[in-house]
Amino acid sequence: MIPVKNSAEILKMRAACEVAATVLYKVIQLVEPGVNTYDLDQAGKRFIHEMGATSACYNYRNGNKVYPGYICLSINEEVVHGIGSLKRVVQDGDVVSVDVVIELDGYIGDNAQTIIVGNVSDEVRFLIEETRKSLDYAISFAKAGGRVGDISYAVQAFIEPRGLSIVRDFVGHGVGRSMHEEPQIPNYGRKGKGDKLKPGMTLAIEPMVNLGTPRIRILPDGWTAVTLDGKPSAHFEHTVLITEEGPEILTLPKK
Ligand code: MF3
Ligand code: CO
Repeated sequence: MIPVKNSAEILKMRAACEVAATVLYKVIQLVEPGVNTYDLDQAGKRFIHEMGATSACYNYRNGNKVYPGYICLSINEEVVHGIGSLKRVVQDGDVVSVDVVIELDGYIGDNAQTIIVGNVSDEVRFLIEETRKSLDYAISFAKAGGRVGDISYAVQAFIEPRGLSIVRDFVGHGVGRSMHEEPQIPNYGRKGKGDKLKPGMTLAIEPMVNLGTPRIRILPDGWTAVTLDGKPSAHFEHTVLITEEGPEILTLPKK
């Protein structure tokens, strides 16, 4: 069963998502050549706590592994779930994915972006820009009466004709009281398949796209996913509410 949020829960989702978006925005402002990802993680921790929230990543468990960071910071060939490190220093020409998942008043907001640092090649810029566009395109299918497969298919139909590849080992997901709720939302699939979308559902839609092979492996730290061929990867994510009027992106920073 996909949870449908009532209006009180939606208010809490709005508040949590606004914090997630604001923290992501603030961390991104700090990404520049010379900064290390440990300091970015610590800044993320501070921003989250200043807003009265907690990190949903910190101490997140997957089997016997416990995530030690407050936000996820993944550079270049790192796809997702990179852990802040003093030894990882951002350089001109890098692409840096920042993923912020926070909990406020029992509800979770989840969002991510990949940003370009300084000068990158045209093909890397293409990867980042098209991945961002694929998220916007997929969100346009997050509407009542449609199905989960419409969102999945939208990402695939956008990305694959552009010669880019879709990571299959991680998927988007429902989000609410917990970080991962039903449904799973793969970034590939078939139109008209899967569960029906209803007003009040809150979904984290998150294309992860590679320049080369779609295949990944996990580093010995047990978390960091990297591309098998070492080529760069991009990740964009929003938490979206299905309304009678259409999709509403909840993870936009307040103007
Ligand atoms: N946005 C990621 C996800 O939905 C965040 C993972 S947090 C971590 O899986 F704790 F696993 F790092
Ligand atoms: Co997510």
